[in-house]
Amino acid sequence: MQRSILALIRTLVLTLEAKDIYTFNHSRMVSAYSLSIGQRLKLKDRELENLEVASILHDIGKIAVREDILHKRGALSAVEWEHVKRHPVASERILCFVEELAEILPIVRHHHEHYDGSGYPDGLAGEAIPLGARVIAVADAYDAMTSVRPHRGAMLVPDAIEELRKEAGKQFDPIVVEAFLRCVPVGPKAVGKIAVVDDDKTVLDVFRRSLEREGHSVVVFSNPREAVERLQARDFDVLILDIRMPELSGVEVLRLIRQFEAELPVIVCTGFSDLANDLDLVNSRVASLIQKPVHPDILRAEVARLLAHRDRFFGLGMPSPSPLSASVACMAQVASSES
Ligand SMILES: [Fe+2]
Repeated sequence: MQRSILALIRTLVLTLEAKDIYTFNHSRMVSAYSLSIGQRLKLKDRELENLEVASILHDIGKIAVREDILHKRGALSAVEWEHVKRHPVASERILCFVEELAEILPIVRHHHEHYDGSGYPDGLAGEAIPLGARVIAVADAYDAMTSVRPHRGAMLVPDAIEELRKEAGKQFDPIVVEAFLRCVPVGPKAVGKIAVVDDDKTVLDVFRRSLEREGHSVVVFSNPREAVERLQARDFDVLILDIRMPELSGVEVLRLIRQFEAELPVIVCTGFSDLANDLDLVNSRVASLIQKPVHPDILRAEVARLLAHRDRFFGLGMPSPSPLSASVACMAQVASSES
């Protein structure tokens, strides 16, 4: 795929992520899950490339969804729900002007169809739904269930797996669910070495006690400069980071850390939100953003999710990156080092 198209894809994703901060990293996770499923289903290279691009861009139509609805806490009214349900068609309309993306349009349009025909926008059922769309439906639902949202914490991995099983044959293609379940970790809970950086000593204390209770090894830093220095040893599994700190902001900490630790999963916990900061966070590949005050259960669930999937999707178990991932990753690097 041409470099200009890849640049366009990245721009579109950044635009959506800046509008809806809670979709942070969502498209990349859905893409990683979708590729793993696609490989298990033995899709051909061309189909995998289409799946990758479609999974990154499937929700781009949410740009057309009103922000008050996108960020609403609590249940949507029937009218609001109808508005949200237009986003797959909006995605298709946005992307249809790019000739090179023609093959992914059906995948994008149909990613909310249900296997039993009860989905939208066209009520397609079974194999009438493009395979790529059936794959994204599972990956998308799993990531949505296991991620933190403004009005709720994340569902635990075993509960999300149970939900996928329950919906196999109804909402989801059972063959796709089965392929996905062979990708997700089912072993004992992963524990890891966690760094917490926050200028508030009470927060450090609460986070440390809560994570240690889960068996993690936790090192806390009230001084961000000290944290950057210590993190250079590259022996941490997850970093939990505050943004507003007097000496050095979380955004600056991230910029320094990304120079030597490209892949360390980072959870940002902050009581403030502003667009410029948010864009910097997107560029620094933050895994999740949690609004303060943080309930310890939400933090523990998010750490567990990142650890559970680390090896499978970001490390040795990750499917070898396609030329597209490599180019997008490379552009992400360039963009973050230029900013
Ligand atoms: Fe969607």
